[in-house]
Amino acid sequence: MFDFKYYTPTKVVFGRNTESKVAELIKEFGGTKVLIHYGGGSVVRSGLLKRVTDTLDAAGISYVTLGGAVPNPHLGLVYEGIELVKKEKVDFLLAVGGGSAIDSAKAIGYGVANDGDVWDFYDYKRTADGCLPLGVILTIAATGSEMSDSSVITKEEGLVKRGYSSDFGRPRFAIMNPELTMTLPDYQTACGCTDIMMHTMERYFTNGGNMELTDALAEGLLKTVKKNAVILRDDPKNYDARAEVMWAGSLAHNGLTGCGNDGGDWMTHKLEHELGGLYDVAHGAGLAAIWGSWARYVYKDCLPRFKKFALNVMEVENKGTDEEIALRGIEAMEDFYRSINMPTNLRELGVKATEEDLVTMAHKCAVGVNGGKGSAKFLREEDMLAIFRASM
Ligand code: NZQ
Ligand code: ZN
Repeated sequence: MFDFKYYTPTKVVFGRNTESKVAELIKEFGGTKVLIHYGGGSVVRSGLLKRVTDTLDAAGISYVTLGGAVPNPHLGLVYEGIELVKKEKVDFLLAVGGGSAIDSAKAIGYGVANDGDVWDFYDYKRTADGCLPLGVILTIAATGSEMSDSSVITKEEGLVKRGYSSDFGRPRFAIMNPELTMTLPDYQTACGCTDIMMHTMERYFTNGGNMELTDALAEGLLKTVKKNAVILRDDPKNYDARAEVMWAGSLAHNGLTGCGNDGGDWMTHKLEHELGGLYDVAHGAGLAAIWGSWARYVYKDCLPRFKKFALNVMEVENKGTDEEIALRGIEAMEDFYRSINMPTNLRELGVKATEEDLVTMAHKCAVGVNGGKGSAKFLREEDMLAIFRASM
């Protein structure tokens, strides 16, 4: 077991109608002028944005709004947000939406609190000294950005998708009302469940310093999401299932399931970020499409963990060699993806990549991880290319 740091400063307010608390939470964290940042309009159509602005009006909190954060959010809008915040003397950011709006808001916060080009942080050129305070009203259970230290932005020029992590970017509060996720298209619900599970699996498939308690939490979380993803497929308005998945989303990416291990593998995410950058696919679907190929490429180098996963999470039969059990676990996971209409390869994802595209993605991925990365198995550019090829 390794030493670890666990830091989760986000105040979580969870349950029905909790969005009505937004004004008092902003005041509690010192906000006087707010930028409300949101996505492509789902919060307008659902009436949530209006309820939020009415609440701020009633509390005498002034605000400006900026919508348009697209899935795989763009750097251009981040720059626009930074200018707007400076011009309007905004002192608090409120993201209303999913990972894309939250990540875009975090980037705006870094850009305002630090001089120079905010992309430098995503380009690993320097680290941030602060971030404008941020609160969240979450509308999709998926990325865990509402409690995480990360933010993922796509630079339009060259379609480069990169993440930056800093404790400064962790939201001050997260309002989580599972009912707000009931307007999600089924596909996005399934993408969210996939992403939540992947955040835990990235930390589970490691070759360094594992901890029994962390494993138990991770396995419990994975089984809970797996079960409730199927419930939501058949009954999307099931409040309890929405709530289980929503809380799992936060715990999957606030560091809890990484305590004591080596920090995780993260190569499935890195490979997916190339897909998201180039083909603009939904993050969760991209992860499902690449995971099986990654797993088959690495499992022999991380056999005890793949066996444990197969038995404890996928609950396959404990029969045969360790390799056979591990492979049955991978197959069972792919069956689960299919059962919630997630893709298990790039064709099913709708990506028609040429060999040249695969080479480009593998190269960009290798550059993005400084040559190589991975704990289940350390992967270099040629390994990344082999996995992309296998996922076709
Ligand atoms: O943009 P709007 O109109 O709001 O529509 C969104 C979008 O089309 C829609 N949606 C969200 N809530 C809804 C809703 N539609 C109806 N009703 C609702 N209640 O769903 C679509 C997806 O939203 P988005 O915010 O893009 O989803 P998600 O939360 O999955 O975020 C994806 C982004 O986060 C990054 C991903 O790479 C991707 O760019 N990630 C961020 C992480 C982090 N910050 O910690 C970690 C993750 O691994 C991930 O990389
Ligand atoms: Zn993710």
